[in-house]
Amino acid sequence: MVCSSCLLIAAVLAFASCRASHMVDATCSEITTNKSYSCEGLGLREIPGSLPVTTEILDFSFNMLPSLQNSTFSGLESLLYLDLTRCQINWVYEDAFHNNKRLHTIVLTGNLLMFLSDTAFAGPESLRKLVLTQTGISTISFIPMTNLDRLDTLILGSNHISSLQLPPNFPTKNLKHLDFQMNHIRVITAEDVSILQKTSNMTLIFKGNDILHIEPGALQSHFYSLDFGGCADIPGVLAGIRNSTTQTLWLGTFSDVEKKPDITPGVLEGLCNISVKDLYLQLQHFENLNAATFHCLTRLRKLDLTHTHISALPPGISGMSSLRELVLSINSFQHLCNISSATFPSLTHLHIKGNLQALQLGSGCLEGLAELRHLDLSHSHVESLDCCSKALNGLSSLQYLNLSHNTKLHIQDVFFKEGTSLELLDIAFTHLHIATSQGPFRNLHLLQVLNLSSSYINTSIQHLFQGLENLVLLDLSQNTFESGIMPEDKLFQQLSNLEVLILSSCELTAVNNQAFHSLGKLRHVDLSHNKFTALSTAVFSKLKSIYLNFAYNRLCIIPRDQLESLPGHSVINLSYNPLECTCSNIGFITWYRQHLDKIEDSKRTTCSEPKSLAGAPLATISLSCGISTAGIIAAVLLVLCCVAISIWGAHYFKRNYQQI
Ligand SMILES: *[C@@H]1O[C@H](CO)[C@@H](O)[C@H](O)[C@H]1NC(C)=O
Ligand SMILES: *[C@@H]1O[C@H](CO)[C@@H](O)[C@H](O)[C@H]1NC(C)=O
Ligand SMILES: *[C@@H]1O[C@H](CO)[C@@H](O)[C@H](O)[C@H]1NC(C)=O
Ligand SMILES: *[C@@H]1O[C@H](CO)[C@@H](O)[C@H](O)[C@H]1NC(C)=O
Ligand SMILES: *[C@@H]1O[C@H](CO)[C@@H](O)[C@H](O)[C@H]1NC(C)=O
Ligand SMILES: *[C@@H]1O[C@H](CO)[C@@H](O)[C@H](O)[C@H]1NC(C)=O
Ligand SMILES: *[C@@H]1O[C@H](CO)[C@@H](O)[C@H](O)[C@H]1NC(C)=O
Ligand SMILES: *[C@@H]1O[C@H](CO)[C@@H](O)[C@H](O)[C@H]1NC(C)=O
Ligand SMILES: *[C@@H]1O[C@H](CO)[C@@H](O)[C@H](O)[C@H]1NC(C)=O
Ligand SMILES: *[C@@H]1O[C@H](CO)[C@@H](O)[C@H](O)[C@H]1NC(C)=O
Repeated sequence: MVCSSCLLIAAVLAFASCRASHMVDATCSEITTNKSYSCEGLGLREIPGSLPVTTEILDFSFNMLPSLQNSTFSGLESLLYLDLTRCQINWVYEDAFHNNKRLHTIVLTGNLLMFLSDTAFAGPESLRKLVLTQTGISTISFIPMTNLDRLDTLILGSNHISSLQLPPNFPTKNLKHLDFQMNHIRVITAEDVSILQKTSNMTLIFKGNDILHIEPGALQSHFYSLDFGGCADIPGVLAGIRNSTTQTLWLGTFSDVEKKPDITPGVLEGLCNISVKDLYLQLQHFENLNAATFHCLTRLRKLDLTHTHISALPPGISGMSSLRELVLSINSFQHLCNISSATFPSLTHLHIKGNLQALQLGSGCLEGLAELRHLDLSHSHVESLDCCSKALNGLSSLQYLNLSHNTKLHIQDVFFKEGTSLELLDIAFTHLHIATSQGPFRNLHLLQVLNLSSSYINTSIQHLFQGLENLVLLDLSQNTFESGIMPEDKLFQQLSNLEVLILSSCELTAVNNQAFHSLGKLRHVDLSHNKFTALSTAVFSKLKSIYLNFAYNRLCIIPRDQLESLPGHSVINLSYNPLECTCSNIGFITWYRQHLDKIEDSKRTTCSEPKSLAGAPLATISLSCGISTAGIIAAVLLVLCCVAISIWGAHYFKRNYQQI
């Protein structure tokens, strides 16, 4: 009994290893032949000898390697990237990577390091990235600096570092990214960080540290990005980095930070002595927001005031003409005019997304923004009775307009009179009411992308898409058509450049043969999640190639000629249809098996009938529906018999009646 179960297990294992030809030892999986392997979470206690010497990328995370010795990785000479996340590593001995000359990245995240030998990282000729997140480090001196001079990224987040004290041999030469987030750094003295003055264009991250004091001028350099997210003492931070230049400065905070002193106009004064391009102030509270608050912000290129609890920007701010991008998302504006747009005449990008109360568009509130190209008003509870020519008055450069996820827009005539530059319009998930029988978008000649998904649009309006001759993508998903039928040509008549048409979840049951007649460039049609019972592909027969998605419909039987009329290069998704795997569908099933290259998602293209085959992928079944030779002979004999009998019968009766 025991023996037979052993045999059984052995047989199963043998079978498994035969099947898993793409695995090494049936453990680590091969990502790229001979180059990239993942041994993640296999409980391994050593590097499997079966990994080829050519391995370059190794994910060895979530295994067990309490100590790293000079022999641990010596067999993997070609290693470039090594991930040792959470391997319970405590000890890294001398020359652990001595044989890995090409290694450029070591990830040691989540190992409680107790000992790092002086020559722990010796060996690699150009170690560029060292990740020491969550390794229990409490001082920088714990990290051996030997052989780190080529480092460009050093990540020390989520440790217990309280004092910086960067040593004189700290690798600054190539350093571009230094991350101290979520440590316990409270004080930064000039001496601690003087070595950083040698760096340039560096990203330096201190977010999540409760910094109480930075010696004024301590961090003086040319930075790329400085992140002090969650630090309460903004004036202190600004004094600490005075005379610096940086592309971006992060002074936002987080919802779980307790200490959030209000930003008074004086708090940002220190910015006058710093050269900053992009400033982020997420989640801060302003006290007495007035023109003085902006006194030192005049040279900004981008200002991000996401979720800063504001309901208006004060009038009278001056000198903001360098500002190109303004983010005002997740605030509480009652009216578009409350942002005092005239203050920012050079804006090219404006985001008022996720406004916390119904945003009234008003009329001409953005009039001065002649250079505005990108406007995001999504998720802002917008409701407008006459959208949107007046509201968007003056925005003649606008290329991108996002009004998705709003409440309701009534369109009385043209949607946006000055919108002749518009290239993308997203009104998805916003109730549209169109009161004109002329095309509301007829002047948007440059429009390429139009998203009307779930907009309750009246698709019976014949001239709906009039004038959109450059449209490339049209999303009409989750709208309905009269009696579930896609009508003939008229609706799409002018869309001669359309390539992608999305009609999923439209409750469609049929498509008129002429519906897509004018769409000569069509290459992608999504008709999934509809109610088609028949596949009609003749509509597409004139195209050279097409991607068709018919997933989640009600197709049971598909006539073979429908598939044969598909253009030469086509791919079709038929997954999740109640396909019949009986002899009445044999034409389709035969075609299917010969054309698997044209099928997307063949795993989920399954049979539903007969019950014995329900759920089986179509590609795996074999049906024999041919009538056998014996059957044919029997049938022929039967017919001949009948004929003979009837002839004989006819003669017999004839003779008998003649005798009467
Ligand atoms: C992988 O390595 C083996 C043995 O060195 C070699 O025969 C094979 O050609 C290599 N395959 C690729 C794709 O490099
Ligand atoms: C590896 O370490 C052992 C013990 O510390 C030592 O005897 C051996 O010489 C080292 N090998 C190399 C190649 O450094
Ligand atoms: C500065 O660093 C950023 C990000 O690391 C990089 O994109 C940019 O090209 C760098 N600039 C210069 C002048 O090196
Ligand atoms: C800042 O720079 C200015 C001019 O470059 C210089 O006069 C001033 O002394 C510097 N301040 C500090 C604190 O280094
Ligand atoms: C700017 O720096 C100078 C010294 O360089 C200092 O006198 C002045 O107070 C600083 N201004 C602000 C607003 O911090
Ligand atoms: C917002 O603008 C509207 C219309 O201009 C005005 O009535 C209202 O007082 C403004 N609200 C605030 C908070 O400034
Ligand atoms: C418009 O905004 C919505 C919600 O913010 C977003 O999901 C969508 O991707 C945006 N549309 C485009 C075209 O970027
Ligand atoms: C509308 O469609 C565009 C293009 O496919 C897409 O980028 C955008 O995210 C869609 N909008 C929403 C709200 O999903
Ligand atoms: C949709 O438009 C057609 C044609 O313009 C019109 O007859 C019909 O009443 C409209 N339906 C609705 C619900 O507005
Ligand atoms: C086939 O279409 C369905 C519905 O759109 C989709 O969920 C599925 O991912 C598609 N299959 C593939 C392989 O893209």
